[in-house]
Amino acid sequence: MKLLGKSRSRTAAFLPLCLLFMKILQPGHSHLYNNRYAGDQLIRLIPKTEEEAYALKKIYRQLKVDLWQPSSISYISEGTVTDVHIPQNASRALLTFLQQASIQYKVLIEDLQKALEKGSSLQTQRNRRSLPRYNYEVYHSLEEIQNWMHQLNKTHSGLIQMFSIGKSYEGRSLFVLKLGRRSRAYKRAVWIDCGIHAREWISPAFCQWFIKEALLTYRSDPAMRKMLTHLYFYIMPVFNVDGYHFSWINDRFWRKTRSRNSRFRCRGVDANRNWKVKWCHEGASMHPCDDTYCGPFPESEPEVKAVANFLRKHKKHIRAYLSFHAYAQMLLYPYSYKYATIPNFSCVESAAYRAVNALRSVYGVQYRYGPASSTLYVSSGSSMDWAYKNGIPYAFAFELRDTGHFGFLLPEMLIKPTCTETMMAVKNITMHLLKKCH
Ligand SMILES: *[C@@H]1O[C@H](CO)[C@@H](O)[C@H](O)[C@H]1NC(C)=O
Ligand SMILES: *[C@@H]1O[C@H](CO)[C@@H](O)[C@H](O)[C@H]1NC(C)=O
Ligand SMILES: *[C@@H]1O[C@H](CO)[C@@H](O)[C@H](O)[C@H]1NC(C)=O
Ligand SMILES: *[C@@H]1O[C@H](CO)[C@@H](O)[C@H](O)[C@H]1NC(C)=O
Ligand SMILES: [Zn+2]
Repeated sequence: MKLLGKSRSRTAAFLPLCLLFMKILQPGHSHLYNNRYAGDQLIRLIPKTEEEAYALKKIYRQLKVDLWQPSSISYISEGTVTDVHIPQNASRALLTFLQQASIQYKVLIEDLQKALEKGSSLQTQRNRRSLPRYNYEVYHSLEEIQNWMHQLNKTHSGLIQMFSIGKSYEGRSLFVLKLGRRSRAYKRAVWIDCGIHAREWISPAFCQWFIKEALLTYRSDPAMRKMLTHLYFYIMPVFNVDGYHFSWINDRFWRKTRSRNSRFRCRGVDANRNWKVKWCHEGASMHPCDDTYCGPFPESEPEVKAVANFLRKHKKHIRAYLSFHAYAQMLLYPYSYKYATIPNFSCVESAAYRAVNALRSVYGVQYRYGPASSTLYVSSGSSMDWAYKNGIPYAFAFELRDTGHFGFLLPEMLIKPTCTETMMAVKNITMHLLKKCH
């Protein structure tokens, strides 16, 4: 056998790999999500003309494909980078159409089932270690994240307080951690939320990472100490708790909340289109089956209402609103709902510019930055615009890694580098807040 002829060190390096494969291939091995993504593909294409875009939109609607990028079929036009998850049973119809129309496409992921099983440790040992050795380099289920929060609330009561701001549609608690030293009576604050969109798993992983880093470094790192001394951080690691749970147990690519609709069987509202700021105008859908459905009325989603109430109540001292999404590698600021420059543009713009530079300094990863409308697309009813309109001067939305190679299936191996570089950006923005900007 060829393998035996290899040098000792090579063979030794192979051994863990072989064990891993044996583990994966062991008999009785069951597939995640009932193997429902077997043979599903992720393809990328860019319509070259408006006619092509029109034809694509039509067939996407017919086949009910799951669009990864952009978030709604209505955004597709000439030149739009489009990442499409094609269910196996729709694959022949779509690929035949593309060939006939001679539209070029690139396969990004050959088999989504294989990709999601390969990129995660869900199949093998789940790491349920408790606090001191908690593993921040795997994705955690909602239950694990909530247990972790409860533990922190007990073990770090000097720096962390955990409380609930309400209940989700399905009755789950909406937990927030307040992080910071009780150094003075009045402190300004930063709001951070993760997991507005369920399938963007890197986002809750970042919120956990941020808290871990704060606790680990505030004694040794002067910047972190300054942050925790001068500010409180309100951190909501999982905003859309019902959707996130659903993405673990049922549909990995679920985006919306899980609320029911009285007239349609489709469930859920886009929690980033449900805010009372140009609600349901451009870039939001009125159709309950769409991924960007704005809901029956603003703040119809209990999760959105709870956060909006909290921010309204605390807006006097909240100076920044940071929301974490994936994927695109962008740092966005208002406006999202229109092409216009915000007042105090230069302060926000320079904060974004520095943050993106700080991020790039770690691994060279490039982020685009700018107003959400012109950098990503126009969307109304977003949390970021709402926060800004309600008096929070620094409002940002991050679109974390990557740019489509793994998309929502960012492997756990990339949690650490993604969070490490993002940490630099967030610290940079926070330090910027503490200075005067004119
Ligand atoms: C593909 O299968 C799903 C469920 O298995 C079904 O809902 C859908 O209508 C099917 N699509 C096509 C194009 O046959
Ligand atoms: C967090 O700890 C405090 C003090 O020990 C306690 O009063 C509070 O109920 C805890 N929060 C939650 C959500 O359990
Ligand atoms: C923020 O990033 C810029 C580079 O973009 C750097 O010059 C500056 O020192 C950073 N500030 C902090 C506090 O990290
Ligand atoms: C713009 O900056 C001024 C002065 O710093 C401040 O009073 C005002 O509230 C800011 N406006 C916005 C919309 O951030
Ligand atoms: Zn998102």
